[in-house]
Amino acid sequence: MVVLGIETSCDETSVAILKDKEILSNIILSQVEVHKKFGGVVPEVAARHHLSNLPLIYKEALKKAKIEPEEIDAVAVTYGPGLIGALLVGLSFSKGLSLRYGIPLIGVNHIIGHVYANYIAYPDLKPPFIVLMVSGGHTEILKVKDGKIEVLGKTMDDAAGEAFDKVARILGLGYPGGPEIEKVSKNGDPYKFNFPRPMLDSNNYNFSFSGLKTSVLYTIKNLETNIPVPDIAASFQEAVVDVLLKKTFKAARNNGINRIVLAGGVAANSRLREKAKILANQYNYEILIPPLELCTDNAAMIAMAGYHKVLEGKYDSLELEAIPNLKI
Ligand code: KG4
Ligand code: ZN
Repeated sequence: MVVLGIETSCDETSVAILKDKEILSNIILSQVEVHKKFGGVVPEVAARHHLSNLPLIYKEALKKAKIEPEEIDAVAVTYGPGLIGALLVGLSFSKGLSLRYGIPLIGVNHIIGHVYANYIAYPDLKPPFIVLMVSGGHTEILKVKDGKIEVLGKTMDDAAGEAFDKVARILGLGYPGGPEIEKVSKNGDPYKFNFPRPMLDSNNYNFSFSGLKTSVLYTIKNLETNIPVPDIAASFQEAVVDVLLKKTFKAARNNGINRIVLAGGVAANSRLREKAKILANQYNYEILIPPLELCTDNAAMIAMAGYHKVLEGKYDSLELEAIPNLKI
């Protein structure tokens, strides 16, 4: 079975071809350079770039996979959450392919797509497992069990990636902030500033990052000059990583599940990956972390999630609409 995957929810235009569980191609065109000068993603600009690039990326993905359009059995596309204009480009293109080749359309929730990146990296992965899903727009702890995905906790304000991006801006670093903070942190002392670990001891699995961001802001204001950017970045990163992992491991323990998987763009963070492995070793948990290119936005994960929906016989009609604030 050949499944085409399409992802255009934010600033990556991506098309992938999956054949019988194997990814034959996964072409990703990032618009990061386009949005950098604005310090963040400009929705209208993102949609226009998807519009001009998607047909080219589609052809490139077919060519790399050595697949003809007539061989595609289904088209899986992100229909939310994301930027409305950006989502509509991918969705309209997919509906066109569905009509033209008489193949079913499958709508994929982007967040669930991130979880399925792990099924590409670990083909033998089986529930139950706990997911720490951390991206630019989402921060959630999920429980995958008995064919269901349950949200155990989520952020009350900023997403973890959003916090990285905002603090990077405060520190005068580039966009996207996550990789920039990670880079300068390598020369910093993670214990130099004792930033708050919000909601660490709260009796739930929720997060809050906006206070942490404010604390960084006041620290800089109080210092006035000679701002030790690497130390602040490293200390901020340490606080985020600490809270994310402590809550995730607590959720695993309280649910009697000893397998934890990471997902989403922030899962590309080397300190998060390193500490997750250390904790897993210490407490005897299995930890699964996708390779970097499967953490950030890509169509391979959408194709894999779509493939699982095909196996369950879950198709969508051409009436499917883009839903910017789609929930799990
Ligand atoms: O999953 P993703 O590619 O897009 C969304 O669905 O949001 O995640 C993007 C987010 C951005 O906020 C970016 O700063 C963050 O992931 N990110 C990182 C790293 N790489 C990307 N955050 C921390 N460390 C990284 N290495
Ligand atoms: Zn994403």
